[in-house]
Amino acid sequence: LLTVSLLGLAVAAASSAHARDYDSVRIGVDVPYEPMEYRTAEGELTGFDIDLGNALCERIGVTCEWVEQEWDGIIPGLMSRNYDAIMSSMTINDERRQQVLFSDPYITMPSAWFAPSSLDISEANEETLAGKTIGVQRGTLQDNYVTDNFSSVADISRYSTADDMVLDMEAQRLDIVFLDFPIGQSTLLDSEEAEYVVVGERISEPKEYFGEGFGIAFRQRDEALAEQFNEALAELQEDGTYDEIYARYFGE
Ligand code: ARG
Repeated sequence: LLTVSLLGLAVAAASSAHARDYDSVRIGVDVPYEPMEYRTAEGELTGFDIDLGNALCERIGVTCEWVEQEWDGIIPGLMSRNYDAIMSSMTINDERRQQVLFSDPYITMPSAWFAPSSLDISEANEETLAGKTIGVQRGTLQDNYVTDNFSSVADISRYSTADDMVLDMEAQRLDIVFLDFPIGQSTLLDSEEAEYVVVGERISEPKEYFGEGFGIAFRQRDEALAEQFNEALAELQEDGTYDEIYARYFGE
């Protein structure tokens, strides 16, 4: 199996415009996005994506070289060959499939609305959000969803990083934010600054916005490389490594 895998890599390298040997795979990631990708107090890069990515690279026999890139430019950075893959909680959807090749989904997370408990609404809709300021990370599916559905009633503030958005929430410059559930959970629900709550149900429909889980993105022509990652992912799911990493961030 390993021989076949390495052969696949050699073929991928040979057929790409700038042949290079994949001793390491450079992976673009937008940090921080806790608990998926963030730095510990000691400055070490960690999180579910990072640990899973490193385990995948190890299984393939390469090293992951993480390249930090703000979300808004993360697909252009892949196209400009600043890195060879994106592993950054990127949701697989049809719009992005026009530009990139996705691995199999490696996790599925809903989106959710988070607000200070003082906002005191039980559901986010056109009435309850009228005149409110909504925060989203620029270029995310949450940005698309909020822009398409609430632009006419609410103000939308778009942030380059999820962190800047959380800071503005804490500074009370936002009424409510919409983001991937686990990020709101670890940055807001666990916050000591103020009391935040999830407003309404977690959302994962319609699929045209909320997609089909998080995938690793590659350039369209790097099929062999994507296949390596899919095979390694299946192996890690099989042998318990995946579950161990999952439990580290999300419990049993
Ligand atoms: N899952 C959302 C999307 O794909 C947001 C991902 C943002 N990721 C990040 N590391 N900032 O649009």
